[in-house]
Amino acid sequence: MDIYAVRLDRAYEKHKEEYDAKALEVLRSGSYICGRELAGFEEAFASYLGVSHCVGVNSGLDALRITFRVLGLGPGDEVLVQGNTFIAGFMGISDCGATPVAVEPDAYYGIDPADLEKKITSRTRAVLATHLFGMMTPMEPIVSLCEKHGLLLVEDCAQAHGASERGKKAGSFGYASCFSFYPTKNLGGFGDGGAIVTNDASFAEKCRIFRNNGSEKKYCNAVVGVNSRLDELQAGLLRIRLKYLDEMNAERSALAARYTNEIRNPLLRLPGIRPDVYNVWHQYVVRCRERDALQRYLHENGVHTLIHYPIPAHLSEAYAYLGLQPGSLPVTEALSDTVLSLPIYNEMSFEEQSYVIGLLNAFAPDGRGGEAGNRR
Ligand SMILES: Cc1ncc(COP(=O)(O)O)c(C=O)c1O
Repeated sequence: MDIYAVRLDRAYEKHKEEYDAKALEVLRSGSYICGRELAGFEEAFASYLGVSHCVGVNSGLDALRITFRVLGLGPGDEVLVQGNTFIAGFMGISDCGATPVAVEPDAYYGIDPADLEKKITSRTRAVLATHLFGMMTPMEPIVSLCEKHGLLLVEDCAQAHGASERGKKAGSFGYASCFSFYPTKNLGGFGDGGAIVTNDASFAEKCRIFRNNGSEKKYCNAVVGVNSRLDELQAGLLRIRLKYLDEMNAERSALAARYTNEIRNPLLRLPGIRPDVYNVWHQYVVRCRERDALQRYLHENGVHTLIHYPIPAHLSEAYAYLGLQPGSLPVTEALSDTVLSLPIYNEMSFEEQSYVIGLLNAFAPDGRGGEAGNRR
């Protein structure tokens, strides 16, 4: 049996008629940029999240870049960001000239609030809190640290559409929050896309102008902006997908619960679940000291997995200029060496998941492992 880490075709097939009809409708409309599909999607997504404004852009990275630029951050400013995040978090910060300052993650792949507080300096202006793998980062302590130290809170929700803490959705805690609609995301489009959401009307308007070549009125350019608009085709298709987001997240949750209940190999450490949160399982990430052997073994048996992320951003070539050496973020670096993302996608069949679980429970690189207890 061949099982991919992610499959996108099945979720499309499930509502193919609706997607096909919308694509044709947009193609035939003659309106492709900043039309009624974008306005409709922005309104629907803001309302889904419980925020006032949504500004559709070209990608999650652009959402971050535009956010920090419009916030007015620049050289000399520091933004705290968790070290184990996708590198776009760092890039969104450094694009305006600010410095990303890496914070260690906690046991749930979110920000460690204690390390966050230790890293606040007189130059810290903001915190970028990422809900990695669809798992809520601990918002309560982060919100209060931001209030205590007068820091702007930005959320990176690229992997967490629909996740919540105590019923409040990811994206509704921050001053501004950034989303990606890259096809593999929980709310994935059929190409690139992203959005910024906020409750501040004036900030939203500035982002709207910035994404449109810095222009509010055609050929009247107020600021040096960028061209980063969510196009009509993506916006129209995302409006359809948004209707199914809760159902799709519930399906992912059921797949995650089954992994949690049925993986019994003591060599694997399963993801812990923080109380009072609804995680949306963008990834199901296990940890294993023999990670590379595990990945090889699964691959030899037709199961494809991913590593999020093999090189932490602070040790990447791109951020060598930060001058951080191996060992500077031991928790983050240990995760890079041990994490493995198991296949999880909408419409994954019971048999496919049984096959993966069977292989995981039988994994024993040197005679250890097998069906013993479940070590969390
Ligand atoms: C946590 C996180 N932030 C930002 C991004 C950037 O999104 P995009 O790929 O749409 O630029 C991603 C996408 O992979 C992500 O996972």
